[in-house]
Amino acid sequence: MTRLRAKRHIPERMERCADLWFALPATNKGKWREVCGFPADCKLFLEIGCGKGKFCTETAIANPDALYIALERESSVILAAIEKAKELEIKNLFFVNADAKNLMDYFEENEVDRIYLNFSDPWTRKKKPKRRLTYRDFLKVYETIMKPGGEVRFKTDNTLLFEFSVNEFTECGFTLSEVTRDLHNSEWNEENVRTEFEQKFADEGIPIKRLVATSNKK
Ligand SMILES: C[S@@+](CC[C@H](N)C(=O)[O-])C[C@H]1O[C@@H](n2cnc3c(N)ncnc32)[C@H](O)[C@@H]1O
Repeated sequence: MTRLRAKRHIPERMERCADLWFALPATNKGKWREVCGFPADCKLFLEIGCGKGKFCTETAIANPDALYIALERESSVILAAIEKAKELEIKNLFFVNADAKNLMDYFEENEVDRIYLNFSDPWTRKKKPKRRLTYRDFLKVYETIMKPGGEVRFKTDNTLLFEFSVNEFTECGFTLSEVTRDLHNSEWNEENVRTEFEQKFADEGIPIKRLVATSNKK
């Protein structure tokens, strides 16, 4: 009942946070920094599938000079992230309620410095690899919208998705680094910011897999 009521009020609650999200993200294509009031040379980091926003809010607070855009297709989920950012008065984080399949409509070539993919849906049961956010067609889009030397930082609990992704990134010409199949017991744990799903999987004792994939485009 509470959940239903909460869902029914999504438009009003989104309206209350209208300064933090973009209803027409395509109009910002090529000018995200300018529209968000950031210098032309600031870093632009994009999280795809931000969920309820633990990672993007904590990361944006820790890096106030960078501009963060968090994309999520589920409106009831992104609302929780937006309200979190509003409550914390974060000034360098903005949201887009949309599907990653339309990324090319929203970002210009060479506009993004880094992409975060945290615990993307694995699409294992239905055997639909083309829907995975690390499927090669998505990687080509990421490479296009990222600057030369841009990087995708990817974390997952799912072994099948991780090994699939290692292969896709490699096949698409990215250079892999910081590859670990047990992030929380690795040298990168200290600087790691846990997401909601990551905390849940860690509590269940599931090792977290992580990699950084750097674009080699010129
Ligand atoms: C398993 S959840 C992980 C949420 C969060 N990143 C975390 O680690 O806690 C995956 C999220 O990605 C979103 N998502 C999946 N595919 C997407 C797509 N194509 N475009 C935008 N969001 C997507 C889902 O709606 C969901 O909220």
